[in-house]
Amino acid sequence: MNITLKIKRFNPELDQQPHWESYPVEVEPRDQLLDALHKVKWYQDGTLALRRSCAHGICGSDNMRVNGKNRLACKVLMKDIAHEGDTVTVEPMLGLPLIKDLIVDMEGFFAHYRSVMPFFVNDDPVPADGRERLQSPEARERFDEGTKCILCAGCTTSCPSFWADGQYVGPAAIVQAHRFIFDDRDQAADKRLEVLNEQFGVWRCRTVFNCTEACPRDIPVTQLIGEVKKALATGRLD
Ligand code: FES
Repeated sequence: MNITLKIKRFNPELDQQPHWESYPVEVEPRDQLLDALHKVKWYQDGTLALRRSCAHGICGSDNMRVNGKNRLACKVLMKDIAHEGDTVTVEPMLGLPLIKDLIVDMEGFFAHYRSVMPFFVNDDPVPADGRERLQSPEARERFDEGTKCILCAGCTTSCPSFWADGQYVGPAAIVQAHRFIFDDRDQAADKRLEVLNEQFGVWRCRTVFNCTEACPRDIPVTQLIGEVKKALATGRLD
């Protein structure tokens, strides 16, 4: 089918402001949006800048705003967003500094990620028999959803509270914190909860659900944020 890709372009060496440019593209219904963007970059305008790597929804590098909603370009099929003759709009994620075209500066996003200690903490000696620290299937299940996060930033950059103030730690960092807070082998839940109880922590969440809608891994992001709020309010991790 023939569609038009309307892409927000910005070259910091030439432009004062981003602007829209349109590209006619012929696509197959089951092509990824990433395929369509490649057709523009490879055959129409090689200066188009975008991040991508795996093309299979794993690396999280090609999240962008597609028809007004955050999506991984490699997980979106053309048949699901366009019919013959349609125009599809593609923009960079909102709320992070724009570098060029569809590329934003992720440093602030990863600074928030690092602030919640997204790593396993346990200072006990490893078991004498040399085996791993065992955990029941039920205890493992408790934090399973958070392990699916690929740090694409789709949730954080679809959040109005993050748009309003980029100091908000954001949904992705809270999901990463949740993954360790509710791991019964970990010993740093208190420290993470302390960070999330601060001014730009979890209470900035207004339960808008944009994050849940945007997650390409179907993580119930708003629910996990609610569980962290509950842990702070009750002092319990159940
Ligand atoms: S290119 Fe890796 S998630 Fe899309």
